[in-house]
Amino acid sequence: MIDRRIHRLYRHFQELPLSMRTLFTGTLLVVGMGYMFGLIYVYAQDAGRDGKPGLSVDDIIISYSGSSEGTKLEAALQGPMSSMLPAGDSAEIIRWIKDGADKTVYETTVQPIVEQNCLDCHDGGNPHLSNLDGFENISTLVAQDTGASLHTLVRVSHIHLFGMTFIFFILGFIFSHAFIRPIWLKSLVVLTPFVCIIADVSSWYFTKIYTPFAWVVLVAGGLMGASFAFMWITSMYQMWFYKPPEWVDKTDGHGPEADD
Ligand code: HEC
Repeated sequence: MIDRRIHRLYRHFQELPLSMRTLFTGTLLVVGMGYMFGLIYVYAQDAGRDGKPGLSVDDIIISYSGSSEGTKLEAALQGPMSSMLPAGDSAEIIRWIKDGADKTVYETTVQPIVEQNCLDCHDGGNPHLSNLDGFENISTLVAQDTGASLHTLVRVSHIHLFGMTFIFFILGFIFSHAFIRPIWLKSLVVLTPFVCIIADVSSWYFTKIYTPFAWVVLVAGGLMGASFAFMWITSMYQMWFYKPPEWVDKTDGHGPEADD
């Protein structure tokens, strides 16, 4: 049974003056285009980080928390360069990397090994081979990828929080003129993106600490997109093509009690 009460402040799109509907339509068009570019940007930025095409949870983990894969030096020692030195020495270097690639340990254990086994080719003379001579040079090959820095996240967070609030306020305001029953569903659609923004932005940080939070980033992003699409399409459609039930747009039919 449909709830026939209408809030006295509620006006359906069809009751609004043409100029206002034009304003809403223009806004929807531009905001929709902005959202598309946002999606393209996210996709270009993060998809395929894990080596596979498409946007996945692993891509998000790598982008916020860093790659759990070994460093370049480890990869070389376990791969193409493994025959260049005794296995024990290789293990020594790898242990040094795992322990944080400290400078004093480098001088006592790693430097002699590298000088003896690697510098014949990696002394910087060949521009195509990485220079392994000295702590500074070798450090660049053992840098751990820790994902987006806190500084970057904080900067992007505040831009996101403000920007998204504007977008979803405007969109939700326009959408509030749509006729949707039940009312709780309509309110839920309006509320969802705001909850998602909070969950999304906080999960960027949580993903650094505990990687499964990347799922929250993905799901929140998806839900946000879904409510955006729902509000956009419903508003556009009801603004120009839809005729609400008669009791809705009878302006003088607005009852005393209701909650639209
Ligand atoms: C005989 C010459 C030679 C020696 C000795 C040698 N390398 Fe290499 N190294 C190469 C060449 C050639 C490549 C590039 C081709 C490849 O990746 O297989 C390479 C590639 C690498 C790479 C990855 C690509 C790059 O240049 O960033 C690393 C890291 C590396 N070597 C580390 C070492 C270490 C550590 C040692 C000592 C244990 C060592 N190499 C000894 C010739 C050498």
